[in-house]
Amino acid sequence: MKVLIVKYSNQSVGYLRQDKSGRMSFQYDQQWITKGFAVSISLPLQEEIFPEEKCRPFFEGLLPEGIIRDEIARNLGISARSDFALLREIGGDCAGALSIGSSKEEFSKGSKVLLEGQILIEALSSLKGKPLLAGEKDVRLSIAGAQRKLPVIYENGEFFIPHGDLPTTFIIKPEIAGIEGSVDNELYCLALARKIKLPISDFDGLQLPELIKTDGDVAAVRRKYLLIKRYDRKKENGQIVRLHQEDLCQATGVSSENKYQKDGGPSFKDLFFIIRKHSSQPAWDVRNVIRIALFNYIIGNADAHGKNFSFLLKKDSVTLAPFYDLLSTEVYPNLSSKMAMKIGGKYNPEDIFRRHWHKFAEENSIGSKLIDKEIDYVSKMVWKWHERVARQLFWHEQLYPKIIHDIIKLIEKKLELLKRE
Ligand SMILES: Nc1ncnc2c1ncn2[C@@H]1O[C@H](COP(=O)(O)OP(=O)(O)O)[C@@H](O)[C@H]1O
Ligand SMILES: [Mg+2]
Repeated sequence: MKVLIVKYSNQSVGYLRQDKSGRMSFQYDQQWITKGFAVSISLPLQEEIFPEEKCRPFFEGLLPEGIIRDEIARNLGISARSDFALLREIGGDCAGALSIGSSKEEFSKGSKVLLEGQILIEALSSLKGKPLLAGEKDVRLSIAGAQRKLPVIYENGEFFIPHGDLPTTFIIKPEIAGIEGSVDNELYCLALARKIKLPISDFDGLQLPELIKTDGDVAAVRRKYLLIKRYDRKKENGQIVRLHQEDLCQATGVSSENKYQKDGGPSFKDLFFIIRKHSSQPAWDVRNVIRIALFNYIIGNADAHGKNFSFLLKKDSVTLAPFYDLLSTEVYPNLSSKMAMKIGGKYNPEDIFRRHWHKFAEENSIGSKLIDKEIDYVSKMVWKWHERVARQLFWHEQLYPKIIHDIIKLIEKKLELLKRE
């Protein structure tokens, strides 16, 4: 039997075990049961062991997905199919407050390495072949998602990589290969969301050089990156501490392979159900989910699946986390325009009109007055700000990247569709 320790700061939360046949299980620590809290809505505090089918969605949900996961496993010489081995290798700094490792020593040390000048550029350039820098000595970073990114410590304009057990404080997201202008796109959508008063973490756009190899030569090009402040970290007495979070897939016990509703993943019904049952500010969270659902529809973000909604979990409260991963996907003809979650029985945004929003409200026990009010609010605010935000970010229409023109056009089309009964 192999064992990993699951820690919250310096306390043991529980033990992740793998038996001889490779099956994983989780059990809370006795002391944590008396003093702590459930680290997932899908893993209530109990003495009994959670078998693999119960605990896998939460723990697998801490790991990167798709080819990123495969590349990391290849670089580390472990099986891409083993959640346990991946958590052992990279589960030091995850989304939320938990840290996973194989021995007590792994948790005790902690230092940070300055990424300066050429070293920063090399680190960013190496994300292509070495995701999350996994394989570098003492680097144990994990973050969900199918895209390349780098969690870092960012202080006074300098970037650091933690070695050992130090929390990262920001996430750097580079351009997504094959999705032109993804950084400008996300920057614009986040800025627009903030203008309409949706809860969003602080963020910024960065321009940094990246090294590219061409025919044996190395050249440097300037690239755009998105820098996002982690809402699951905060400063306490001069020290950065981790706050706990889990995403909607983890909360509903669905593994990341099934994150889309059509594959059995969470729906808006599940999201509202969890808020009403667990949130300590249900009315506020319900209203913000209605707003983000409308906002995602208007900007054409079809990828708002169960791993793109999260909850902040504390001992005595559960609240919806700020929104993230806001990207207009519908403007790319090569991406599926099917929505990750149904709205009023429809997946295809072209088929969604005002009456489907009323059906969405009815299905989710939202009053028709409230949905009308929110449709009105979000439409008016997006209309008011969509051009202005573009100007604030890119100065002049003539300087807008092509993708921004496309998103603006799409927004205007959607605002028209929303008026149709
Ligand atoms: N601002 C943030 N603070 C804390 N965690 C975040 C933040 N933004 C994203 N995350 C976490 O990182 C994961 C990946 O980020 P996301 O932007 O969704 O990337 P991807 O495009 O790869 O899906 C999310 O599922 C969430 O758990
Ligand atoms: Mg995501």
